Amino acid sequence: MYTLDLNQMSQNEFLTKYWQKKPVVIRQGFKDFVDPISTDEFAGIAMEETVQSRLVSKKDGQWQAEFGPFESYEHLGERDWSLVIQALDNFSEEAAELIEPFRFLPHWRLDDLMASFATEGGSVGPHIDNYDVFICQGSGKRHWRVGDRGQHVEVISHEALLHVEPFEAIIDVELEAGDILYIPPGFPHEGVALEPSMSFSVGFRANSAISLLSGFADHLIDNDLGGQLLEDAERQAIKNSGEVTNKDYASIKQQLQNLLDNDKLFKNFVGNYLTNAKHELDLMPSEEPFERDEVKELLGIHAVKRLGGLRAFYFESSEVGSINDGVCYINGEQISFDNEISPVIKLLCNQLVVTPDELAPWRENEHFITLIITLLDQGYWFWTEAE
Ligand code: SIN
Ligand code: CO
Repeated sequence: MYTLDLNQMSQNEFLTKYWQKKPVVIRQGFKDFVDPISTDEFAGIAMEETVQSRLVSKKDGQWQAEFGPFESYEHLGERDWSLVIQALDNFSEEAAELIEPFRFLPHWRLDDLMASFATEGGSVGPHIDNYDVFICQGSGKRHWRVGDRGQHVEVISHEALLHVEPFEAIIDVELEAGDILYIPPGFPHEGVALEPSMSFSVGFRANSAISLLSGFADHLIDNDLGGQLLEDAERQAIKNSGEVTNKDYASIKQQLQNLLDNDKLFKNFVGNYLTNAKHELDLMPSEEPFERDEVKELLGIHAVKRLGGLRAFYFESSEVGSINDGVCYINGEQISFDNEISPVIKLLCNQLVVTPDELAPWRENEHFITLIITLLDQGYWFWTEAE
C-alpha cells in the first residue's frame, strides 16, 4: 500500500493552492518508494497484443517513435530511449495500487496510470498535456523542467510526437524515487532520465463539452431516442419568410434543451459515458458460472477486488437514476438493483477492495448474491485474499 505525504499540506490545501492552477514538486510524497513492477515485467507487458505501448528515442538528433506490441528490445542501445505503457493499471494489479492514494479526487476524473522506463538521456520530449498529472518518480533519477502556461508553439517532431518549442523553466529539478511532480493541463514539461529509471504518471482528464455532446448524440442514436420532430401547430402567418424569429430560435434551442433537462435520460447517459472503459480491459470472465452456495461461503472468507481500469460509479442525489433509486453504472452500462443493497454497492464503487468483514452482512441477501455472481462471472470483480 502506498501512503501519500503532501509535505505538511492537507489534501484541501493542495487542491486550493495547486490543483488545476500551478505545478508543484512534492519531495518524498511516497517514502521508501519501491517500484510496483520490475523493469523485466514492464518490458514483458509491452509485448502483449492488447497493451498500448510506444518506444520513443532520439537518434542523431532525430526523434523516433514506434508502437507496440514489441517483440524484442535488442535493437535499442544503452541510452536515449524510453518505453511508455498506457493504462498500466489495467494490466498490473501491483502498479494499479499507485492510484489508490489519489482517491481524494473523484475516480470519474481519473484517466489512467501511464508508466515509463527510460535509459540515460531517454525522454518523450518536451510537450504539453491536456490533463492533470501526478508524475511519481520510481527507481533512478530524472531531470524535469516545467514551463509556465502561455503561448507555446507546438511542433510535430515525428508523425506520432507533438512537441513544444524550447521554454523557460519555472521548475527545474532532479527527481528521485518517491518524489512527485504535479502538473496541471497546459504547462509545457520535459523529463530526461539521468540514469535508467521508472516513472509512474497518474493522469486525470476532464471531459470537453464537445466530447460530451458527441457522446450524448451517440447515446441517443444507440437507444433510438431524441428523434421527435419540432412541433409548431400554433404557427401564425409571417411577413418575412427569410427570417428566423426569436420565438422560432427559442423553440429550436428548447428542443435540444429538453433532452438535457430530461434528468433520467441525461443521467443515464452520463453514468454510461463516465464508466466506459478508457482503455481495453484485461477481462477474464469465469469459465463456469459461480454457484450461489459457493459464493455465500466465499463471501465470508475472501475479499473481492475490482478489475484494474474498470469504472463503477453512482450518483449522489436521490433523484431518479441515482443510488437511492437502485441504480449504478458499471463499465458503460446501467445496473439496477434492489434499493436495500445500496450500501454495499457504494462500497464496490468507492473501494478497490471490499473486505470479508464488509461483505459479511450481505452474505444472506439474495439480491446481493445475484448481483455479485453476475459481476464475478463477467470478471469485473474477482476473489482476492483478505489482508
Ligand atoms: C514520461 O513518463 O516520460 C512522460 C510523462 C509525462 O510527461 O507526462
Ligand atoms: Co507529459
